Amino acid sequence: MGDYTSELRKLSPRGFPPSTQALRKPGRLAATGRPGLGRRCYDAFVPTLARGKLITFEGLDGSGKSTQLERLAVALRAERLPVLVTREPGGTWTGEKIRQLLVDSAATALVPTAELALMFASRAQHLSEVIQPALLQGKIVLCDRFTDSSEAYQGGGRKLGSDAVLRLHGILCEDVQPDLTILMDSDVVRSVDRARRRNRSRTVGTSDEGRFEKESRAFFERVRNTYLAIARREPERVVIIDARGSPEETHQQILEAVRRRLKLKTADNGS
Ligand code: TMP
Repeated sequence: MGDYTSELRKLSPRGFPPSTQALRKPGRLAATGRPGLGRRCYDAFVPTLARGKLITFEGLDGSGKSTQLERLAVALRAERLPVLVTREPGGTWTGEKIRQLLVDSAATALVPTAELALMFASRAQHLSEVIQPALLQGKIVLCDRFTDSSEAYQGGGRKLGSDAVLRLHGILCEDVQPDLTILMDSDVVRSVDRARRRNRSRTVGTSDEGRFEKESRAFFERVRNTYLAIARREPERVVIIDARGSPEETHQQILEAVRRRLKLKTADNGS
């Protein structure tokens, strides 16, 4: 927490209240100027660095992002940083119900627009119930997937386009942006094969989580290309991590990215 405190002192040397500029700095939420839930939250006397950090993990199914997210959580907790691990779709009671429908391979009739709407329903609930409160409590939120997934899968994979996704994000999610996004990049065949094998071994009875994994290689190529386009568009937010190395190498790359981009201390680098 040392870094938070010293940065906070720089922003607000005489203590509270911090400057208006400091209040507006977190994410792009306040910068949109739109009134709404998040804006109301941040308009309270909350110093900038009392706000936590939102770190999202993105990538194809089977890219190893969930394992790496857990490893990062362990490393940050070892530094006594307050970490909250969560996921999308899901993360709340409501969101997990929505998830069950979205990933169930029996849900063959779900049309792309309904799928996108459900992703955002889960996200809006998650932001309001879990993510925003945790950030206001100064936590580091590690979220397994966020709006980039909707842009890559529904925008790219389902061909609904980025514009629809970004507009919905602005309307339903107050345009909240992650402080850092780790994009686990890996080749399509390798990732999806891994996800399918994992899913087969987990499947119980007739219900499974394999709806997306049934998609074609062309679908996942579009997903990957959209992810890479997002990373090119927002290089200050999105770090591409080559997910093809060993889990340990990948973990070290992620720690380095987190340390560099967010100036957080981590157990392994000691800086
Ligand atoms: P997971 O297995 O990584 O938890 O994600 C479940 C599936 O949901 C995965 O195949 C990707 C998909 N997904 C979307 O298509 N759009 C989204 O916005 C999100 C969050 C996930």
